Amino acid sequence: MQAAFNKLAHSLRSVFLLFLAGVSLFLIWIYTPPSPEVQLLSDPLENASPLKKEVYASSDPMVILGYELLVNTSLHIGPQVSDPQKRYTGNKLECVSCHLNEGTKAFGIPLNTVVSRFPQYRGREDKIGSLEERINGCLNRSMNGRSMAIDQKEMKAFVAYLNWLSGFKTEEMQLATALEKGLKDFVWPNRAADLKQGKAVYAQHCALCHRLGGGGKFDSQTAQYLYPPLWGKDAYNNGAGMTRLLTSASFIKYNMPFGVSHQAPVLTDSEAYDVAAYINQQERPKKSELAADFPDKLKKPLSTPYGPYADPFPLSQHQLGPYRPIADFYEEVFGLVKIK
Ligand code: HEC
Ligand code: HEC
Repeated sequence: MQAAFNKLAHSLRSVFLLFLAGVSLFLIWIYTPPSPEVQLLSDPLENASPLKKEVYASSDPMVILGYELLVNTSLHIGPQVSDPQKRYTGNKLECVSCHLNEGTKAFGIPLNTVVSRFPQYRGREDKIGSLEERINGCLNRSMNGRSMAIDQKEMKAFVAYLNWLSGFKTEEMQLATALEKGLKDFVWPNRAADLKQGKAVYAQHCALCHRLGGGGKFDSQTAQYLYPPLWGKDAYNNGAGMTRLLTSASFIKYNMPFGVSHQAPVLTDSEAYDVAAYINQQERPKKSELAADFPDKLKKPLSTPYGPYADPFPLSQHQLGPYRPIADFYEEVFGLVKIK
């Protein structure tokens, strides 16, 4: 009898213990937060750049939209967008194809210090221009597209983002300073650019990414260019700043091949000059009404590849140099010192 009772008590205890274990497991299951691995996997920002993380952490929808427009321009306002009303760019470049490192690279036409420089006098229009007008300039020329209204959401987002970016500071990221704006000067070779030499430099240093035919490499998976085109239908048009030999040569010298910094360029002044000339002699989309640019012709940069000019030098010399004689002419005749 005693033995039977002991056995029953033992079984009941086992059942009770099993029950307790079950309840505990259930409670643990309910109260444990999802494991960190699961969270990281489902977090789209996990592989994002430090800047993108900060942008999203701001939780400001206009700042986030502005960032997206700058980095994924072609996906939001490019020619592939389904609603034609939303198409503002005519090629599939991104703003950051030229405004490097998400618009923060020293002498890579950075945008992180740009807000403080506007409004600003602009020779192309011969008037004081706003930041919005400057953005429209790149939309019409670099992006071969059309202007946005000053008060529309996308334009406000660009400006909101650039304002936010001007106050952005970080320890780990190198940001361009106010002195490292725009492009860095290089020494102009005192000769016309050599297109044959430029073609050779292109084949050696550029074609790997931008391809021999200049069309770049499109990634159909992301529907964006991995390596942007330098000429052809998807490139900047002939009214863009990048078509000016002196502008593109300084961009190329201090930023290309992709990854070089202005402290340690790879190309010589001569190589950058020749390859920039070679690229800009290729076919690209044409901007209409270029003759109306620079109402005051004295303000026209020396290497603007289209006339009319306020000097007697031929078009070919404006496109290929040498530029020293043209600069000397402006100094002697008009007392103007031209640096571009
Ligand atoms: C094909 C190259 C290219 C692309 C693409 C491009 N830009 Fe630019 N951008 C330039 C050049 C060149 C300049 C003038 C740099 C200079 O002369 O110092 C410039 C200047 C600017 C400036 C004035 C910078 C300053 O320091 O004064 C702003 C703002 C700007 N771009 C905005 C944009 C925006 C926004 C987009 C996208 C919608 C864009 N850009 C796309 C080439 C480009
Ligand atoms: C390793 C690949 C690589 C090489 C090599 C390279 N580039 Fe680029 N280039 C890029 C990338 C990528 C961009 C766009 C920047 C971005 O998306 O961050 C770019 C942008 C440009 C741009 C501005 C955007 C455009 O489409 O107009 C020009 C101009 C340019 N490169 C010229 C050159 C020249 C000239 C050379 C050779 C001296 C060269 N690149 C070599 C990868 C490369």
